[in-house]
Amino acid sequence: MSKLVHAQWSSKMTFVLAAAGSAVGLGNIWKFPYMVGESGGAAFVLVYLLCIALIGLPILVAEWLIGRRGQENPINAMSELSRRGGHLPAWVLVGVSGVLGAFLILSFYSVIGGWSLSYTLGSITGTFSGQDADGVGGVFTGMLGSPATLLLWHTVFMVLVIGIVARGVTKGLEGAVRTMMPALVILMLVLVGYGMTTGHFGEALSFMFRPDWGAINGEVVLAAMGQAFFTLSLGMGIMMAYGSYLGEEVNLLGTARTVILLDTGIALLAGLAIFPIVFANGLDLDSGPGLIFVTLPLAFGNMTGGTLLGLMFFLLLTFAALTSAISLLEPVVEFVEERTPLSRVVATLVSGLAVWALGILALLSFNLLSEFLILGYNVFDLLDTFTSKILLPLTGLGAIVFVAWCLDRQSVAAELNLSGGSESLWLVVARYVAPLGVVAVFLHSLLG
Ligand code: PHE
Repeated sequence: MSKLVHAQWSSKMTFVLAAAGSAVGLGNIWKFPYMVGESGGAAFVLVYLLCIALIGLPILVAEWLIGRRGQENPINAMSELSRRGGHLPAWVLVGVSGVLGAFLILSFYSVIGGWSLSYTLGSITGTFSGQDADGVGGVFTGMLGSPATLLLWHTVFMVLVIGIVARGVTKGLEGAVRTMMPALVILMLVLVGYGMTTGHFGEALSFMFRPDWGAINGEVVLAAMGQAFFTLSLGMGIMMAYGSYLGEEVNLLGTARTVILLDTGIALLAGLAIFPIVFANGLDLDSGPGLIFVTLPLAFGNMTGGTLLGLMFFLLLTFAALTSAISLLEPVVEFVEERTPLSRVVATLVSGLAVWALGILALLSFNLLSEFLILGYNVFDLLDTFTSKILLPLTGLGAIVFVAWCLDRQSVAAELNLSGGSESLWLVVARYVAPLGVVAVFLHSLLG
C-alpha cells in the first residue's frame, strides 16, 4: 500500500499549488506556442479552449473525485471503486494506462527539461547577448546536433527529478511553487510587454485570435484535444493520485476552475510573448519544438536587463518543468514500490533509470536516429503523438465515463454540490458532451 494513502493535504491551498505545479510546465510555455504556430493559429486556439472547457474541466473533476473516493493510488482506486459498485474489473485499465502514460511522457519531457537547463547556463555565460536570429538559431541547431550535449542535460534533469522524488520531499516543493508561479506570471507579462514594443503585436493578436476556419481539420482538432489533456496533466492518474489526498471539504469544481484559469492564462501569455518576436524577425511559425528556444533568446539578447531576465526566465521554466516531471515520476514509483519488494529509494532509481534510458532514444531522434522512423515518426514524435493523441484521451474518457455512468448519480451530484439546473448541466456535459467529444475528435481525425 502506498505510504501516503491516508495522508491529506495540509490545506486546500497546498492542494491547489500541487495541482497547478503539475499542470503548469513545458506544456504551457514550450508546447502550446509551437503547436499554435504549426496548426494554423487561432483555429487551433479556439478548438483548444473548447476542449479545455467541455472536456478538460469535467475530466479533471472526475479524476479528482475518483482519487478522493478511492483514497489510494490510481490503480487500486479504480479496482476498489469498480469492485464496490459491482462493475467490470477491467476498469482498472484506466489506472494502468495512466502509469504507462506517465512513464512514456517523462522520457521525452526530460529531454526538453534538459534544453531549458542548458539555456539557463547559456544565459549566465552570455551565449545569446547581441545575437541576431541566425546566431540564436545556430546555437539551437548546434545543441540539437550534439548527442553528448543533449545527453548531458537530459541526465542532469533526470538526476534532479530522481533526487527529489527519492527523498520524498515532493511536498516541500509547494512553498517553492507558491513563489515561482507568480514570478513566472510576472515574467511572462514583461515578455508580452516587450512583444508590444516590436511593432508586430497586432499581427500576433490576430494570428492567435482571428480564426481562419478553413484551417480546421481532423488533425488540428486532435492536436488541440491532445494538448488540452497534456497541459492539464489529465489521463495519467496524476490528478487521481492528488485527489486521493483530498479532504471532503474541498470544492472540486471551484478548484478545477482556478487551476484551469491559471494554466490556460499562462499558455496564452506564452503565445502573446512569442508570436510578436516571430513576426518581427521573420521567423518560421512552423519551427516546431525549437520555437521558444529560437525566439525568446532573441528578445532577451536585445532588451535592457535581458541577461538577467533571460536567466530568470529559463530558471523558472526549468523549475516549472521539474514540478511537472516530479508529478510524472511519482505514480511510476508508487506502482513499482507497491508491486515489488523494492524500497522507495531503489524503486525511484529503477523507474528513473528506465525513463532515462528511453529518453536517450528520444534525444537521438534529433541527430543520429533522425532517419529511424516507426510508423513514419521518429522516437521523440512517436512518444509524444502516442501519449497526447491516443493514450491520454482514452484514459480520460475512461475516467469520465466511469464517474458519469457507473458511480451513483445522486452521490456524485452531492459531492460536487450540484442541484437543479447545475446538476442537469453537469449531467449533460459529463455524460454526453465530454465523452462524445473525445469520440468525435477521434473519428474526425480518422476520417480526415
Ligand atoms: N501538464 C504538464 C505541462 O503542461 C505536463 C504533464 C503532463 C505533467 C502530464 C504531468 C502529467 O507541462
